[in-house]
Amino acid sequence: MQREQWNSRTGFILAAVGSAIGLGNIWRFPYMAYENGGGAFLIPYLFAMVTAGIPFMIMEFTLGHKYRGAAPKVFAQLGQSTGLKLEWLGWFQVFIAAVIAIYYVAIIGWAISFFSYSFSQSWGTDTNAFFFTEYLQLGDNSPTKLGSIQLHIAIPMAIAWAITTLAVYSGVKGGIERASKIMMPLLFIMVLLLIGRIVFLPGALDGLNYLFRPDFSMILDAKVWSAAYGQIFFTLSVGFAIMLAYSSYLPEKSDINNNAFMTVLINCGFSILGGIMIFAVLGYMAAEQAKPITDVVSSGVGLAFVTIPAAINLLPIPYILGPVFFLALVVAGISSHISIIEAVVSAVMDKLALSRKKSALLVCGFGFIASMAFSSNGGLLLLDLIDYFINNIALLSSCLIELIILTWLVKIADIRQYANRCSEFAVGKWLEICLRFLGPLMLAIILVKNLINTLK
Ligand code: PHE
Ligand code: NA
Repeated sequence: MQREQWNSRTGFILAAVGSAIGLGNIWRFPYMAYENGGGAFLIPYLFAMVTAGIPFMIMEFTLGHKYRGAAPKVFAQLGQSTGLKLEWLGWFQVFIAAVIAIYYVAIIGWAISFFSYSFSQSWGTDTNAFFFTEYLQLGDNSPTKLGSIQLHIAIPMAIAWAITTLAVYSGVKGGIERASKIMMPLLFIMVLLLIGRIVFLPGALDGLNYLFRPDFSMILDAKVWSAAYGQIFFTLSVGFAIMLAYSSYLPEKSDINNNAFMTVLINCGFSILGGIMIFAVLGYMAAEQAKPITDVVSSGVGLAFVTIPAAINLLPIPYILGPVFFLALVVAGISSHISIIEAVVSAVMDKLALSRKKSALLVCGFGFIASMAFSSNGGLLLLDLIDYFINNIALLSSCLIELIILTWLVKIADIRQYANRCSEFAVGKWLEICLRFLGPLMLAIILVKNLINTLK
């Protein structure tokens, strides 16, 4: 049977960008930048983008294109040429992807709930109590609550699963590509709309000033560099079998270098938009409440489900801006979720020789059941724990192992040659230097630092 293919180059790029752009761009990047020197963070961030993000993307696109398979198959084939058994590395990545898929969907489910509340801001004025006590029912230890499935959380999660399943079930062209072609333009329009309205509000520019005002004294701090590298790997979805799966559906004639540059640049550009959107809102909120902005900044779950709802209460036309914000969050999340599931589904398809439809139903069925653990009132605790482990340890070690194996055991010069042969413009020797020396070195330093912090 012939392997499925993307219908168009734009379709592939939109799908890859859909995977890259996710919750990380909207709630992780702005806070990371703010915490790590504001505008000055952009220097290590762009450095990491060029020395790690782009090379990694070119490498994964090359491997997917060349070996035409999901991660386990790609690594197994790579191993064969050197007499090593490497299939496990692919399954390790697929496993991490599956874990991410299971908790990522919980956040999308919450965003769907909040989308529905946002029309009338039914979260009230105490958004903190609303999210933690009323919605998640944290602290309610009665036997009917503790650890049992909460329908008001489970149903939106089921909706998210249904959309993901449909996209993956319908195939590369008819499902994933079609969904990306609708979702990505919609996402950009929504975010531009929000920014267009919000930056003119009083205080918004002060918020941006906070975000972008460079604090150059921090640039020599190792913590800032490690944050920049960590953010680049997370935001680009590399090292998780995902970009391998997507690029395995590229047609024979594809411009690898150009596709990789486009994917990385669009994602990082979108992160800046995300930063502008979030900090304009925070600046406005601080001004309205006559507080310093440092009192209102927050990150992650607290930002999206406590601070932003409180800010929406203060906005003009909240019944429009609120739904647009949460819909943007849902769309950014689902397009990433589709890519994570596709990484798992394509690996299962390759291994068990199952049809796409059967494989999709199998993976999504199991995923759905497993993810129900997050619909109980212990969900947030579990989520924080897994999220910490994934971001600080699993993600970096997966990237590091991949880099070491690929660049020291397999000839990296071959990867560069292959990519250049497929591309209109060639990348220079810097690619090899970044992948062989700089990348592993930076990853190893950051990983050791995180392990020490975890054990402390
Ligand atoms: N890149 C996505 C984001 O920024 C997150 C993600 C990570 C998606 C890993 C898939 C795999 O939110
Ligand atoms: Na991203």
